[in-house]
Amino acid sequence: MSDETLSNLLREERRFPPPKELAGSANVTDATYEQAADDPDAFWAEQAKRLDWDTEPTETVDWSNPPFAKWFADGTLNAAYNCCDRHVEAGHGDRVAFYFEGEPGDTREITYAQLTAEVKQAANALTELGVTSGDRVAIYLPMIPEAVVAMLACARLGAPHTVVFGGFSSDALATRIADCGVEVVITADGGYRRGAPSDLKSAVDQALTKCEGVRSVLVVQRTGQDVEMTEGRDLWWHDFVGGQSDEHTPEAFPAEHPLYIMYTSGSTGTPKGILHTTGGYLVGTSYTHWAAFDLKPETDVFWTAADIGWVTGHSYLVYGPLVNGTTSVMYEGTPNTPHQGRWWEIIEKYRVSILYCAPTAIRTFMKWGPEFPEQFDLSSLRLLGSVGEPINPEAWVWYRHYIGGDRVPVVDTWWQTETGMIMVSPMPGVSEAKPGAAMTAVPGVSVDVVNDEAHSVPNGSGGYLVVTKPWPAMLRTLWGDDQRFIDTYWSRFEGLYFAGDGAKKDDDGDIWLLGRVDDVMNVSGHRMSTTEIESALVSHPKVAEAAVVGATDDTTGQAIVAFVILRTEAGDGGPDVVQELRTHVAAEIGAIAKPRQIMVVEELPKTRSGKIMRRLLRDIAENRELGDVTTLTDSSVMTLIKDNLAKPDSPQE
Ligand code: PRX
Repeated sequence: MSDETLSNLLREERRFPPPKELAGSANVTDATYEQAADDPDAFWAEQAKRLDWDTEPTETVDWSNPPFAKWFADGTLNAAYNCCDRHVEAGHGDRVAFYFEGEPGDTREITYAQLTAEVKQAANALTELGVTSGDRVAIYLPMIPEAVVAMLACARLGAPHTVVFGGFSSDALATRIADCGVEVVITADGGYRRGAPSDLKSAVDQALTKCEGVRSVLVVQRTGQDVEMTEGRDLWWHDFVGGQSDEHTPEAFPAEHPLYIMYTSGSTGTPKGILHTTGGYLVGTSYTHWAAFDLKPETDVFWTAADIGWVTGHSYLVYGPLVNGTTSVMYEGTPNTPHQGRWWEIIEKYRVSILYCAPTAIRTFMKWGPEFPEQFDLSSLRLLGSVGEPINPEAWVWYRHYIGGDRVPVVDTWWQTETGMIMVSPMPGVSEAKPGAAMTAVPGVSVDVVNDEAHSVPNGSGGYLVVTKPWPAMLRTLWGDDQRFIDTYWSRFEGLYFAGDGAKKDDDGDIWLLGRVDDVMNVSGHRMSTTEIESALVSHPKVAEAAVVGATDDTTGQAIVAFVILRTEAGDGGPDVVQELRTHVAAEIGAIAKPRQIMVVEELPKTRSGKIMRRLLRDIAENRELGDVTTLTDSSVMTLIKDNLAKPDSPQE
């Protein structure tokens, strides 16, 4: 982030104290911070009581072999039982777990009793398919209730799931299936995207031609489109799961039993399989869900507007809310289908009290204008959350004003796939929020901002965000690659978790997140790796070399801009080369990875040691004056690129 952007960020000086009525009844108070600081172990042991354990843990954290943590290690429990059955046993079977709103306008209301019954049926179905504890199951579904049922059925059997976002391509799916040795895939015929059905099953079929080991595919009928079913491998969910008994006794697993693997982009090519385990993850997500959103499960209607294929969907649409017995909204569609007031219509319809979404959505709504939210009754809202990328103060203030009626707190929550749970956030009943600041670590969590030498920076200075103590929902390792886990997160600063984010402490010591410091981009709150997209580009026969950078974008935060050198034999690549390459990236990774802009260039700026100077490419992509070029092998390269791009016939979009 440039100094200018930073000073703009810090120019907004208003403070927003908690509303009086909220402060008076808030879940988290100053005392919570004090208890957590006085005795973190006792604090977390207390939080563990949110769960029903088969064997109560007597240990809290075991950090004897860092960076491999164990939490509540001698406890045993069943994750699905904690999300479903126990609420029914406590007399809340009739409480709605999900108000599902499908994109075509179809709806379903699913109570805790119904959810429990469906999870039991699905668990029986997976058992019949031979799934047992430890087996991996891939879930490649749209945002439909079966996605939650499938996740919980896996959890019930102790079979780690890996949910692959439905927007990823068959290649991306195949890589993930192969990396963690998936045996069963749960998918659908298709999903709805802006009013039209899109294929999922055919992508699974294609993926399975590229990897081995999958013996069964369960197919949910969502769109009713024609799909090919492979005899002996593919089964319809409604036949096979629907025909199962809804009796199933949950088995207790050790707290450190794997719960799921979620792939995410790192700064090198291949996606990383983040491993989360059971007890600590459920404690961390349920506690932070209760704390950051001041959750009152009897009365709140909570809506995480994120896809289940990302960690936000895992932690705050599924596990955290369900452990807490929350009523949630689950929405399949996009914000502008069939009209631009869709979200606000949903909030009015279900009387949503807490909304959790990404700044990119807020900025899009700002562009569309306040006339859309103004047509609906949003008075049920009492809290707003933001996640996924830095929120600019303008968006923060707009969100609070137009959506929150200038009365509700906004919590900007910083966390990652790796952290599993919210780590830095205002507490709605305590913090005097500052627009654009994630403020302070949640009670029980310890973070700092350090300089290159790992020293804590003074207030008013910037550096790298680190976590200084283990936390219950932390990733335990990268699937099958302990060394990469150590190298990526624990080697930059001795004994500290390196998050990969730049941050600043303001004069009060409050934390402002400033974006990634590595080659990871954040596009609409989705994490993308520059190298992953570069690899996709160079796998195209016409491309010799590629460099990808994230350029600042008003709506999506960052946008993908690629510079490619074509192979000599490809000539000028032909008139459609840019389109061809964009389509190729979509096929390799998914439509979300398509570069906004591809520039065909003759050379790339490199340092004397051969490293591509992305900083300079970013300057070009953002139309800035060129920065320092003295370390370039040949500084005329940049002039060449600029001149070439200025030509009217240069092939760019
Ligand atoms: O750069 C930070 C940004 O998103 C990254 C994590 O991405 P992912 O693992 O996909 O998880 C996204 C949802 C939790 C972080 O390294 N990020 C996330 N939340 C914020 C944020 N940046 C600034 N402010 C936030 N509130």
